Amino acid sequence: MCKNATDASKFVATQIVLQIVEKQKKGQTCVLGLATGSTPLTLYKELIRIHKEEKISFKNVVTFNLDEYYPISKSSPHSYYTYMHNNLFKHVDIPEANIHIPDGEIDKSHLQEYCRQYESLIESAGGIDIQILGIGRSGHIGFNEPGSSQHSLTRLVYLDKKTREDAADTFSGLENVPQFAITMGIDTILQARRIFLMAFSEGKAKIVAEACESNPTTECPATFL
Ligand code: GLP
Repeated sequence: MCKNATDASKFVATQIVLQIVEKQKKGQTCVLGLATGSTPLTLYKELIRIHKEEKISFKNVVTFNLDEYYPISKSSPHSYYTYMHNNLFKHVDIPEANIHIPDGEIDKSHLQEYCRQYESLIESAGGIDIQILGIGRSGHIGFNEPGSSQHSLTRLVYLDKKTREDAADTFSGLENVPQFAITMGIDTILQARRIFLMAFSEGKAKIVAEACESNPTTECPATFL
């Protein structure tokens, strides 16, 4: 636990950069699982600062984002594609080919195959070294809403009412929030070698307590951590 959000973000950024540099020295790639939402924004700012001021290259970084709304166009200001490019990718030197974000534009008829491919891509990249997570009020990690199985993999999910309500302001109204999302599964997340769940503010206290104190249950997917 850290004193405040800035300290916590700096701590996680340092852990990420140490891993990137260590892998660089060995001529290896560093595979990061990335999250969206307001929580990791300070972490991304700190990574950008380290890249620019401390001249650390991110060329050996491969990324896999946790989730994306479905359907959503990449160019939508609300897509996680836009969020990630604006808040991180535009400002660092991760090669575009190394960036993976679930595709909110994929045709429904190809979705299952697409999700299987996403899993295969993670596997062929060598698995996730560090996974960043936030937590939703529903206890979701990624978009694994209550009811998600511990054995779930990347798939299409129906979003919880609480999750859609929380996104309503950003989308200028509940009716504009997509009903579905593509998300890595709980099992996909649990396979990461290290996981940092970041949660700040009083608003998250109740669900964090539940995540830490309850026995693993599909009612609160974060308990599987
Ligand atoms: C969204 C994302 C989650 C994120 C959650 C919390 O639902 N899909 O990955 O953890 O929001 O968001 P915030 O950090 O804004 O509280």
